[in-house]
Amino acid sequence: MVELQNVSVTYSSGVDALNNVSLKINDGDFAFVVGQSGAGKSTMIKLLLKEIDATSGVVTVNGYNLGKLKKRKIPEFRRTLGFVFQDFRLIPSMTVYENIAFVLRVIDAPLKYIRKRVPYVISLVGLHSKTNSYPDELSGGEKQRVAIARALVNDPQLIIADEPTGNIDPELSYEIVELLKGINDQGTTILMVTHEHDLVRHFGGRIINITGGEIVFDEVISGVDEVLPEEELAQAMAEASAVTNTGNIILPDQQIITPDGAYAAPANDRNGGAE
Ligand SMILES: Nc1ncnc2c1ncn2[C@@H]1O[C@H](COP(=O)(O)OP(=O)(O)O)[C@@H](O)[C@H]1O
Ligand SMILES: [Mg+2]
Repeated sequence: MVELQNVSVTYSSGVDALNNVSLKINDGDFAFVVGQSGAGKSTMIKLLLKEIDATSGVVTVNGYNLGKLKKRKIPEFRRTLGFVFQDFRLIPSMTVYENIAFVLRVIDAPLKYIRKRVPYVISLVGLHSKTNSYPDELSGGEKQRVAIARALVNDPQLIIADEPTGNIDPELSYEIVELLKGINDQGTTILMVTHEHDLVRHFGGRIINITGGEIVFDEVISGVDEVLPEEELAQAMAEASAVTNTGNIILPDQQIITPDGAYAAPANDRNGGAE
């Protein structure tokens, strides 16, 4: 579970990176965070990992109030999360197996458990045949699969992925999101930052758009199947009861059509009922 309550971040340089952001992501959710470069996406991720602290407001992740979390408790907190980075961050001198097992070794997991758990997560990401390969023997997509297996090995409640498809061929990006969706189906909450609109349009789901440090859009949209053809979009526009300042068309029955033509359901209860 992730909750931001009126959170602002001002860097020491004076830049206001997040401005009074409130957001709730429930256990089991999958959410995309989108927005242009410089919008504040990575700042939000850094807050959730407690790499930085909020200037004001309350950040709660997996039941930990991060503003009040003692330094010595940070490792315990971080074990409830898995992270996936754009640049993979694998250790080049270690094999796939060792890169993943390393996470369990540092928390003194029993060897017997490591020997069972590591091959299991490797098979989950479809890399059984690469168990003993080194990172430089893998493609970008394969490296990111290893990173996902590593994020999963500790059975975290929440996986946070900051641009996980940023260094991967576009065709393979879909596979990475499919993999994360499959993990989400097993109950893990997933928050994925991306600026790839095609991916978001294809998969749909909850889309949180950050622009200029503020959430300007937080709604559930359907996947690409329901993108309207031009003429239907024009028709919807003619029937619209309102068009919001973010370009959403609100139909009389409260259906929402996003600017790129995808149908959206109204965002009920997105902030636990408090908007
Ligand atoms: N460590 C930092 N010190 C000062 N300003 C920063 C720092 N990190 C990011 N910023 C600024 O904060 C704003 C948001 O950045 P960031 O969260 O990295 O955006 P995004 O991930 O959406 O591209 C930008 O104006 C960026 O220049
Ligand atoms: Mg970023």
